[in-house]
Amino acid sequence: MPDSELLRAWSRFVADPGSPFTIPGHKHRAGAIWPELGEVDAGDVPMFGGLAPVKSAVSVVAAAEARTAERWGADWCRYSTGGSTHANQVLALAVGPPGDEVLVARNAHRSVLSGLILAGLTPRWIAPSIGADGLVEGISAAALAEAIAAWPRATALFLVEPSYVGTLSDRSSLIAAAHEAGLAVVVDQAWGAHLGFHPSLPSHALALGADAIVMSAHKTLPAYSQASIVLARTERLDRGRLERAFDLSFTTSPAGSILASTDGAVALLDSPLGEELLGAAIVAVARARDRLRAAGLVVPGPDTHAIDPTKLVIQIPHGGGLALEQTLIAAGLAPELADEHLIVPSVTMLDRPEDVDRLVCLLVAETQGRAARGPRGRAPRSGLLLADTPAPAQVMTPREAFFAAATTVTAEEAVGRVSAELIAPYPPGVPVLVPGEEITVETIELLRGAAADGVRIAYAADPTLASFQVVGS
Ligand SMILES: Cc1ncc(COP(=O)(O)O)c(C=O)c1O
Repeated sequence: MPDSELLRAWSRFVADPGSPFTIPGHKHRAGAIWPELGEVDAGDVPMFGGLAPVKSAVSVVAAAEARTAERWGADWCRYSTGGSTHANQVLALAVGPPGDEVLVARNAHRSVLSGLILAGLTPRWIAPSIGADGLVEGISAAALAEAIAAWPRATALFLVEPSYVGTLSDRSSLIAAAHEAGLAVVVDQAWGAHLGFHPSLPSHALALGADAIVMSAHKTLPAYSQASIVLARTERLDRGRLERAFDLSFTTSPAGSILASTDGAVALLDSPLGEELLGAAIVAVARARDRLRAAGLVVPGPDTHAIDPTKLVIQIPHGGGLALEQTLIAAGLAPELADEHLIVPSVTMLDRPEDVDRLVCLLVAETQGRAARGPRGRAPRSGLLLADTPAPAQVMTPREAFFAAATTVTAEEAVGRVSAELIAPYPPGVPVLVPGEEITVETIELLRGAAADGVRIAYAADPTLASFQVVGS
């Protein structure tokens, strides 16, 4: 079995928590007064005073993080209990001072945007390419070259690899070109914590030369919710700045349970058992892809795209994805994302092949029934809700717009005004409207189209999109 010192520390504490006069306040005794509450609290072990005595906990966790840094070939690693949201904010705070320009892939998650606002960085967007099937394919070498030429003062490049739908750019070339131009490369690899740990998987971005990566251990590894890992090389990024950025925004009471599950998940990933489980997931997804394709669904795979082979993305050209979602939920097989034309179930090394089979059987049965009634619905759109419309003009920086006085106006009045809010269909959480951007008719139509397709419109003050928050009075 794999070994993790933090997991062993967690087990020791749970076996005998003693009677500590420290936080957390449940003292592992809530079950005596309310069994359900006790059960939820049972696995909660604090980092300080739980995984190790308060005065030595930092060094115990740091030793585990150092082992993880070695596994990825990094110089610096921290485990976060704040998800990749926190980890992306840390890297934004670490790359440069307020006012620096940075190149950012426009399919960046809203957490990268929040990091730019906190850090005061000015994004210069790079539009990802969209494939003929509507899927985001990544950043092309030409698009990066154009951005480097247009913004020669930029200091860093922020990429999202893999994209929400698993696609990957030619990362080696992008990283080499960015370094050549003097840019540090930060990769949001939230959906790719498993990359590089099976011979059939693409490498992780650090192995390809990136300066820093962020990974949600809770997305593709068997770790607790909120578990995230941030890793960096310190050639182009400053170690002290990374540490300060992390500690500035990190909780003072980290859940040792999350840290222990992160460490355990990483130890499993880096073991023969982990490789075996990943191999099984790759086989299960390949099999699912073949069967779904045979049923007439469009399922991108390594034969059609540069894509993570464990990613299952199902496009439904004839529509009906929302009804399928309900069927899947009723069967206990809820997908991660569903709209009228797209279903993305998250498959990981912990999914049982029989569950993947059930999912496929249900999708095949339901889809054949619907396909027989003929095509309906609109044509499929980009899997990331990024239409081929030009990016709106950036009138002020996201930070300036965030702090500016704002007012609420109707959608009609909002056209031509500057957005004070970030609006992102979720999932995938890629902002369609960023603070500081001019609101256009196309943007409003794009958001309304996504809402009509059954996507949750997140972070908008008015999710019905009848009104918008704009800068000014
Ligand atoms: C690309 C990407 N980055 C970052 C995040 C934020 O991750 P977390 O939920 O771990 O905070 C997400 C969440 O879905 C994501 O899709």
